[in-house]
Amino acid sequence: MKPYVYITRKLPEETLAELKKIAKVEMWQEEDKPVPRQILMEKAEKAAGLLTMLSDKVDEELLLQARQLKVVANLAVGFDNIDVDAASKCGVTVCNTPDVLTDTTADLAFALLMAAGRRITEAAEYVKDGKWNSWSPLLLAGTDIHHKTLGIVGMGRIGEAVAKRAAGFEMNVLYHNRRRKPEAEEKHGRLFYRTFEELLKESDYIVCLTPLTPDTKGLFNEKAFKMMKDTVMFINVSRGGVVDETALDKALTQGWIRGAGLDVFREEPIPSDHPLLRHANLTALPHIGSASIETRLMMARLAVKNIAHVLQGLKPPAAVNER
Ligand code: DGY
Repeated sequence: MKPYVYITRKLPEETLAELKKIAKVEMWQEEDKPVPRQILMEKAEKAAGLLTMLSDKVDEELLLQARQLKVVANLAVGFDNIDVDAASKCGVTVCNTPDVLTDTTADLAFALLMAAGRRITEAAEYVKDGKWNSWSPLLLAGTDIHHKTLGIVGMGRIGEAVAKRAAGFEMNVLYHNRRRKPEAEEKHGRLFYRTFEELLKESDYIVCLTPLTPDTKGLFNEKAFKMMKDTVMFINVSRGGVVDETALDKALTQGWIRGAGLDVFREEPIPSDHPLLRHANLTALPHIGSASIETRLMMARLAVKNIAHVLQGLKPPAAVNER
């Protein structure tokens, strides 16, 4: 009998062909609604493989109940929705989708930086709302991007790709990372290492790309926002949990920072009456970092391959825990 695989969101059929040869595949069919917890628990109980989204909580309770489970493949590079330690204890391989989304996510991070800096969404709404009555010298004037100092917090693959884009704008690029890069790499990439505090104080734009871990939870708190220049633009494309949103709201209200661009939130989808959304100088996106058609298809193919490999006793291309 073929092993059973449950996919928690509808994926294009073309990405599933290989998997269907070796597994019985079932998919949650509703486009606009995540699979309810109870249904996910039931499916997990009989599944050998789960293909999950970052909105699905794969915790100890689920893993203990899923006795047949061998692999959880997340359709994301981040995997903070999965209890990896519990999975390892249960003998479950956890996989993600690195590399294939690096450039697409870096494009979005840079686009958001530019949108926030040059007030692009605000300006576009201004025209559509019929508010444009005359040209005037400082109408919707933003702040320059070229030649400014960019601070990247979390210098992994996506951080490096953002730094390359910044080089084209002749920005001065600072970075902070748990592990400092070798001198040759810093020199080659024209990157300058800074402590977290130094980076906060020196940057005109701060892009947060650090994964959400117990160490980075609430990293951008009141103290951090107070340390930044009052002209800084803060951009977050990693996970909402890295930011203390009450502190960010205060920073925007009190003018401690110039503005923010957020692709991610603590609670997703963010409720439309959330206090953060009332700020005109906050550009908000619905977690679309890797959302290009090409990349989402590559992510789906990689996630499917991760599952197929584990079920066939092969090493999956992208496992995050050693099995
Ligand atoms: C990821 O892959 O972790 C991204 O947040 C998806 O856009």
